[in-house]
Amino acid sequence: IYNTSIPHSKDVIKIGTLLPYSGVYTVLGEEITNAMSLAFDEINNTISGKTIEIIRGDTEVKPNIALQKSRKLISSDKVDILVGPVSSSVALAVRDIVVQTKTPLIIPNAGANILTGEKCSKFITRISFSNYQINAPMGKWLANKGIKTAFLLAPNYAAGKEMMTAFKDNFIAAGGKVLGEEYTPFRKTKDFGPYLARIKDSGADAVYVFYAGGEAINFIKQAHSFGLSDVMKLTGAGWTTSPLFLPAQKDAAVGFIGSLNYVPSINTEDNINFKKSYYEKFKRLPSEFAVQGYDSGKVIIEAIKSVSGDISNKDNLADAIRTVSIT
Ligand code: PHB
Repeated sequence: IYNTSIPHSKDVIKIGTLLPYSGVYTVLGEEITNAMSLAFDEINNTISGKTIEIIRGDTEVKPNIALQKSRKLISSDKVDILVGPVSSSVALAVRDIVVQTKTPLIIPNAGANILTGEKCSKFITRISFSNYQINAPMGKWLANKGIKTAFLLAPNYAAGKEMMTAFKDNFIAAGGKVLGEEYTPFRKTKDFGPYLARIKDSGADAVYVFYAGGEAINFIKQAHSFGLSDVMKLTGAGWTTSPLFLPAQKDAAVGFIGSLNYVPSINTEDNINFKKSYYEKFKRLPSEFAVQGYDSGKVIIEAIKSVSGDISNKDNLADAIRTVSIT
C-alpha cells in the first residue's frame, strides 16, 4: 500500500534498429548490426538481469520507408531504444517522431549537422561524427599540401551537400579555388563516366569526393579504369575507400587521400582486442562502421547498467545515454 510505483515487469530490453538492410548502404547496415551484436554477445546478451532483443527495421535508405518503420518499432514493437540510421536524409526524417515519443535514438553513422546543432535533443545521441567534422579539416590540409584547385563530386542528398560545403568553405578560406562541382542522383547513379570526363576536363589539381557503399565501389573502380589518378589527386571523405569496400575496390583504391574517424591500424590495446574479437566472429577486419556499431552497443550497456536496468523512465534513460563514458 505504501509502494505506489508501478513495477516495471519487462524482463526484455528491446533495441530497434533503423538501418539499411537493402539498397546502396546494405553492407554498412549489416556491419553496424554485426558489431553491435558482438558487444551484446560479450555480456551474454544480458544487462542487469534483462535479456537484450534486437528488432531489425530496414530503412532501405529511403526517408519515407524509414519513417513507417520507426512508427512500427515505436508503437507496435514498443522498443526501448532505437539505433540508426546510416543516411543523413533518413535521420532528418525520423528526428521528430523520436523526440515526440521520447524514444532514445543512438546514431551510429548519419552525419547530418543540425541533429547535434540547432535540432539537437536529449533523445538523440550521436556516437560518431558530423558531416562537417570529417571534411572541414581536409580543406585546409589539402590547400597547405599545395593543392590549389579542386573539383567536387558527391551524391545529391543532405550528406553529400554538407560534406562538400564543409570542405569547400575551408579550402577557399585557405586559398584554394573550386573549379566545379557535381551532385550525382543518389541511389541511382551507376555510370560515373560523364562525371569523370568533366572532372578531367576541369584540369583541377584534385577531385574531392564522398561516396559510400555500392556507389563508393563503382566510383573508385571506374575512376581507376578511366585513369583519373594519372592527371590529378583523388581525395575526399575517407569512407570512399573504407576497409569495408576495399575487398571489392582492391588496387583501384591505392593512392586515395581521405580523412576518417577510425582506421583499423590504430595501435592501442583496446583496438587490438576489438580487431581480434571482430575477426574471430566475422573473419575480417572491422571498419569504422563496425566501431560505430560496437560503440552503440557499449553505450547501451553502460547506460542501462547506470540506471540498474530500470528503463521505465525514458527521460532518465536518455540522460544516462548522454552521460556514460566508454573507450
Ligand atoms: C550520411 O548519410 O550521413 C552518411 C552515409 C554514409 C557515410 C557517411 C555519412 O559513409
